[in-house]
Amino acid sequence: MKIITLLNEKGGVGKTTIATHIAAGLAVRGMRVLLVDADPQGHATVSLGLQKEPGLYDLLVRDATFKSVLRFIPPKAYQIPNQAVNGQLFVLPSNVETRNIANSISDSFAVSERFHELENTIDLVIFDTSPTPSLLHGSIYIATDGVLYPTTCEYLSFDGLVESIKHRQAAEAHRTQWGLSDIQVLGIVPTMYRTKTLEHSENLKQLQQQFGSLVWEPIPQRTIWAEAAAIRRQVLSFAQESQAAKDAWAMVNRVQEAIGGVK
Ligand SMILES: Nc1ncnc2c1ncn2[C@@H]1O[C@H](COP(=O)(O)OP(=O)(O)OP(=O)(O)O)[C@@H](O)[C@H]1O
Ligand SMILES: [Mg+2]
Repeated sequence: MKIITLLNEKGGVGKTTIATHIAAGLAVRGMRVLLVDADPQGHATVSLGLQKEPGLYDLLVRDATFKSVLRFIPPKAYQIPNQAVNGQLFVLPSNVETRNIANSISDSFAVSERFHELENTIDLVIFDTSPTPSLLHGSIYIATDGVLYPTTCEYLSFDGLVESIKHRQAAEAHRTQWGLSDIQVLGIVPTMYRTKTLEHSENLKQLQQQFGSLVWEPIPQRTIWAEAAAIRRQVLSFAQESQAAKDAWAMVNRVQEAIGGVK
């Protein structure tokens, strides 16, 4: 089992969009995927057609069983027309109560300890996080194997990215004390990229100069992404022939390569 986390301390940069697409894409491919909504906004929860509820809170604070909090997503919600779904997708939902987790857990290993119970039943756990850092992020940093940073090519997103990187590095110092290795940076995904603007292309160049091959192929801004989100679908199934779906699959492929042979 691998645990990966989507992070950027700037809001609205595509964390949830990317998390839901990776989750659905890899479930189609054959992995047993759990998407954890660690954001009180509950957007990953609703994006997969579920009601907001305190799943993560119940798990971490009320010591609920996974069986009682995991929600199985029926393949018809995300399958690509005329293609089999070879894996499974589960979501651990969230609601506003997620905000209270940080005040209620004292142990930075809380996330790690609970999620390792899934070692034999899940291949990949994906955490979608809130843009506001909290002690919950700290506990996720202890549990996570890899991070992926979505960012738009704009100054404030870069600021959020830099803050997230600083927090990861602080968490790595903490991990070292416990004998844990550093977190793998899977990549930085430029999202909502406006190909024709000088501002975005200049900022992308700057990102590439600073982070080199860690910067993935940018995902252009296209209305179809927001249209799919509005009806709680992913572009992979909603618009399978679209360029957006091709961009999404390229990203899914890259995640698959980056996490390697799981298990
Ligand atoms: N490539 C894209 N082109 C156009 N719109 C996009 C693209 N990617 C994401 N969006 C839209 O941008 C909005 C913000 O995306 P999303 O909710 O994934 O960001 P987020 O980082 O999770 O936000 P938050 O920090 O609030 O959790 C959504 O409406 C989404 O549909
Ligand atoms: Mg989000």
